[in-house]
Amino acid sequence: MNAPTMPGLQINAPKYVKNAKLIAWVADMAALTQPKDIYWCDGSEEEYARLCQQLVDAGTFKKLNPAKRPNSFLACSDPSDVARVEDRTYICSEKKENAGPTNNWMAPAEMRATLQPLFSGCMQGRTMYVVPFSMGPLGSPIAHIGIELSDSPYVAVNMKTMTRMGQAVYDVLGVDGEFVPCVHTVGAPLQPGQADVKWPCNSTKYIVHYPETREIWSYGSGYGGNALLGKKCFALRIASNMGRDEGWLAEHMLILGVTNPEGKKYHVAAAFPSACGKTNFSMLVPPAGFEGWTVTTIGDDIAWIKPQADGTLRAINPEAGYFGVAPGTNMLTNPNCMKSLDKNVIFTNVALTDDGDVWWEGMEQDAPGKALPAHLIDWQGKDWTPQIAKETGAKAAHPNSRFTVAATNNPALDGAWDDPKGVKIDAFIFGGRRSTTVPLVTEARNWVEGVYMAATMGSETTAAATGQAGVVRRDPFAMLPFMGYNMSDYFQHWLNLGEKLAKSGAKLPAIYTTNWFRKGADGKFVWPGYGENMRVLKWMIDRIEGKADGSEHVFGVSPTYEELNWTGLDFSPAQFETVTSIDKAAWQKELALHAELFAQLAYHLPRELEETKAQIERRLAA
Ligand code: OXD
Ligand code: MN
Repeated sequence: MNAPTMPGLQINAPKYVKNAKLIAWVADMAALTQPKDIYWCDGSEEEYARLCQQLVDAGTFKKLNPAKRPNSFLACSDPSDVARVEDRTYICSEKKENAGPTNNWMAPAEMRATLQPLFSGCMQGRTMYVVPFSMGPLGSPIAHIGIELSDSPYVAVNMKTMTRMGQAVYDVLGVDGEFVPCVHTVGAPLQPGQADVKWPCNSTKYIVHYPETREIWSYGSGYGGNALLGKKCFALRIASNMGRDEGWLAEHMLILGVTNPEGKKYHVAAAFPSACGKTNFSMLVPPAGFEGWTVTTIGDDIAWIKPQADGTLRAINPEAGYFGVAPGTNMLTNPNCMKSLDKNVIFTNVALTDDGDVWWEGMEQDAPGKALPAHLIDWQGKDWTPQIAKETGAKAAHPNSRFTVAATNNPALDGAWDDPKGVKIDAFIFGGRRSTTVPLVTEARNWVEGVYMAATMGSETTAAATGQAGVVRRDPFAMLPFMGYNMSDYFQHWLNLGEKLAKSGAKLPAIYTTNWFRKGADGKFVWPGYGENMRVLKWMIDRIEGKADGSEHVFGVSPTYEELNWTGLDFSPAQFETVTSIDKAAWQKELALHAELFAQLAYHLPRELEETKAQIERRLAA
């Protein structure tokens, strides 16, 4: 079994690895990529410490001051490798129409021929890490296993935090269990005697998914979403295909638990586009006026949701950690997150303080007098002072700088976050970032209307992906960059699921859309957001419990001013009007944009969505 693949290279699988298919695949991939050696990760603390020290020695990691930030590290990437590369991300299904118009596509044979020379010898001079991981609680009926082969120790240590990674995965995998094969390389082979750089990567990048064979191949980037293949590549793009075939959902959603003062608990899954506050919402601290309410986190980015025999939906967080956006995070916006970051964190592309700690834009809110630090080393290794920032606009931390931290660091972690059965979902929320047009909150009157609202969601782009930020683009279900198949087929999958649940006689989860981001005439956000979003969350629970009537309008039901609990917040009816008003002309334009989207998605677009649009148009014209 452990045959040499190249002179001197042994596969050397540990005895506890018994899956013949896995061992044969590792041998094949080693023959292709030609690493100098192979290291099988066991996921132990000792291994994590050793690999982190190795990254420190290589200059990739800087160890932070242990008195300030115990057992924590800062990595600063190559300035060209800072975000997901959507234009280099491919869904290579056999048929182009199965990838659909929202994905880059290449025929699998053509892509394999393109990648073959790139992957051939791509790991020369480097170690191949074999990273076994479970997406979801080990052995959960909702979980699945992946194996990532990577030549990046940064990937290996981040995967330890972000997934259930290590030896125990092989017990679940057994001799003939299934796994999703994920191959990752930074695409920077090292010749003998050649010195390595701190952040190896390649200007050529390919993030490739073969949905039919459930494979992932990632070339040229060391950055999170492109390289930690359990996250976007597996848990969303490949898993959405599994979900379609097997009747479940893989969604770009946080999952939270919300408990009222009577002790009744609800679970909400919420989709917001990247860098639009999923982590903040999942760790929300109820404000004054909400004594007795608690919010607990099950997940902050991805939900796998499976229908049960009784017609309910149960969800797990396939991840085990948070890879969150640092800038803007502070004790006001997300105190639970700040507390999670006290120790055992990997930071990427934030700034370094003179006393060996980290800093990012937004942290000044926590400093006495909101003072900026006098001096920092910015994420590109340059001096940063408030004066330099004023003169050049230089950011100390990259706008998409991140922290990687274990879920277990979160003081608001839900007791059931690791429950293999998952939690029962009572409501879905879809939230875009829109400075105009879309009201603070709307409840769909039924499942089809909810699917329509999610399908037509628009959002202003953020720094989480390369490209221009702040442009409105349609981001159906906040899944545009993560959809693993044809978007219209995915809409149909949601409609089919609703129909199936309804047939079982179960009460379907309510569906809401939110927009925390409306701006006033002065260009400033009107809604205070963050913890104050609890006011909206409570209204949703009131609706579920039949305690609020709301006010019905052309595309759903929104709260009246009186229905929100305003204790502890000075928010006038006029301000409420600014964030909730529905402008007829703006909505006529909005519907024209929905029509454009539907024209783009015409192939297999569900008839129900066209009909819902026509109904809204009729109501708007009336
Ligand atoms: C993320 C993203 O990293 O959505 O979660 O970009
Ligand atoms: Mn995300």
